[in-house]
Amino acid sequence: MQLDKLCERSQSPPVSRWLPGLAGLAYGGDYNPEQWPEDVWPEDVRLMRAAGVNLVSVGIFSWAMLEPAEGRYEFGWLDRVLGLLHEAGIAVDLATPTAAPPPWFTYRYPDSRPVTREGVVLGPGARAAFCPSSPEYARATTAITEQLGRRYGGHPAVVLWHVHNEYGAPLSACYCENSAAAFRDWLRGRYRDLSTVNRAWGTSFWSQRYGDWAEIEPPRAAPSAVNPAQQLDFLRFASDALLDCYRRERDVLRRLAPGIPVTTNFMATNCKGIDYWRWASEVDIVSNDHYLRAEQPDNHIELAMSADLTRSLAGGAPWLLMEHSTSAVNWQPRNLAKRAGEMRRNSLAHLARGADGLLFFQWRAALFGAEKFHSAMLPHGGTGTRVWRDVVRLGADLGALRDLRGSRCVADVAVVWDWQSWWALELEWRPSVELTFFDRAVAHYERLWRDHLGVDFVRPEDELSGYPLVVVPNLYLTTTAAAENLSRYVQRGGTLLVSYFSGIVDGNDTIHPGGHPGALRDLLGLTVEEFLPLRAGQTVSLDGGLSGDIWTEEIVPRGAETVLSYLDGPAAGGPAVTRHAPGAGVVWYVSTRLNGPDLDAVLKRAYVDAGLALRAGVPEGVELVRRVGADGTEYLVAINHLDRDVTVPGTGTELLTGKPCAGELAVPAGEVAVLRRSLSRDHGVCGRGGGRVGPHTP
Ligand code: GAL
Repeated sequence: MQLDKLCERSQSPPVSRWLPGLAGLAYGGDYNPEQWPEDVWPEDVRLMRAAGVNLVSVGIFSWAMLEPAEGRYEFGWLDRVLGLLHEAGIAVDLATPTAAPPPWFTYRYPDSRPVTREGVVLGPGARAAFCPSSPEYARATTAITEQLGRRYGGHPAVVLWHVHNEYGAPLSACYCENSAAAFRDWLRGRYRDLSTVNRAWGTSFWSQRYGDWAEIEPPRAAPSAVNPAQQLDFLRFASDALLDCYRRERDVLRRLAPGIPVTTNFMATNCKGIDYWRWASEVDIVSNDHYLRAEQPDNHIELAMSADLTRSLAGGAPWLLMEHSTSAVNWQPRNLAKRAGEMRRNSLAHLARGADGLLFFQWRAALFGAEKFHSAMLPHGGTGTRVWRDVVRLGADLGALRDLRGSRCVADVAVVWDWQSWWALELEWRPSVELTFFDRAVAHYERLWRDHLGVDFVRPEDELSGYPLVVVPNLYLTTTAAAENLSRYVQRGGTLLVSYFSGIVDGNDTIHPGGHPGALRDLLGLTVEEFLPLRAGQTVSLDGGLSGDIWTEEIVPRGAETVLSYLDGPAAGGPAVTRHAPGAGVVWYVSTRLNGPDLDAVLKRAYVDAGLALRAGVPEGVELVRRVGADGTEYLVAINHLDRDVTVPGTGTELLTGKPCAGELAVPAGEVAVLRRSLSRDHGVCGRGGGRVGPHTP
């Protein structure tokens, strides 16, 4: 029996890292035929073909239609949908519907309902009403996944499994009794015995020592601040509990449908609760959902950051944009519609940053339900609308850009991104409520984006030697391994830029002893004697006309040179920005919050240390990204976010128009151009993506 199993496995086709049989770039969206009468489906398929759609995600929220009562299955409708799509040559990303348990499930198994930190039991009527640690949820999701795997594993239309939908949204943790038991098991796995837990959590503080595993609870609402190490472990547990849910379904599908890749859609920059570094290696293809923060000016910069982070999670490999919107969403306070050209710029920015497929939520706008005001590829107004025409145009664009498939992005700079440090930083009772991670990541990324530098995101323990510059927007939680890695990088010649309140605690939120910033003290060549947070709205002046806010520090240099000092504020006269050169490299430290041009002024000096040359002749506001194919062909994607026409240096063939271009690439206001040229010379390798980096010249 075991031998048979082994043979079966060795004969299984290898898991594909891309969509088997799908020619060109993927294009499509979430398709919800269950919301429409069957006579609409042929029209859907016809219009999909007209738009160039070749991949749709099906069945994401259809559990109640597939299994109307426990153990009673109705697959006829899905058979017909997949048949229609297949006949039309449209491939299917088939979902397991486990993100929305049906009413019968919640009714029959009330213990599966999620519970908030405050003890509120959440009910059905929306979606995602499940506890990740519920045994009933595990059993029911395994059953429906097995049914789907058996029935459709060999279906010729199915090229990808879409497990669940956005694990962690809208809830990434549950505080019920099932979760409490699972948390205790998780802790046993991590610490083995209770005395190690007590030590790790510092339970001699506030009489928290545990004498029995049963006494440990999730960090539920409590009269005061709950033990931060306990909270941090609970966040780790919650991310892992969802990962277990994913793995359970994936393993069923791998067993029943070997060879078909499995993914689940991430929300790279939009889900604090999931440590995607731990998830990324568990999916065959990384896929991501991204929605613009509609009201934010220049929100395409955060889009670019999301795309770069997703590509980094994929280790540089092609990834799939599983969802974005053609125009407005429905769930923000004010749902601004995208204006002419915006959707195209957004989509092609994802493509430029490594996405080999672009999908939308959703194919056809819904007539009812909570998302009826959400945009779609086929709007309520049908094919007579601008959005539809833009969708058709984008489909044609992707045809013209098909050669980009498989090419890799190149990066000049690495930015450290660590979910666990983010979690720890933003627990309560920090020296200032204004110490946050995400806005720092965006602030640093924005400067790099404006300077047209390619960015990879990395873990602090990753190999960094390929990057001339590594930026650490904040790394409050710094393990010894991370500190050693960053130090090695600098010793060997790298340039590092670290911002304030980094290197403070270890993996259990325990202060690194001996003075701040304990983990990075030697590397930075300084100690921080006092944190000097600022009052709300207060600013401080620095040398060189710079100003900072929210935070300052009393720094004593111990080897570092003071580059900029505080002119006023609580740290007046002391160092604000320092530079230290241990070994062959350089490390910059910024002890206050700098934004915009002020941050830029410091970064520009770090570029010099790193030997980074900036592109000449490219206006700020024009996004410029390079992908390089295995054969050395370079694709330069230029996206003009300005309201005036520009030119950027470039020679080759512009792929969207097919026109040759000699020396100057014209990119009209709001438009996109993609230049193809062959690289004749061999260039140095940089970045985890392994792309070849050429000089910043046309
Ligand atoms: C996503 C979700 C979709 C849809 C979309 C609306 O987060 O995965 O199912 O709800 O948001 O923007």
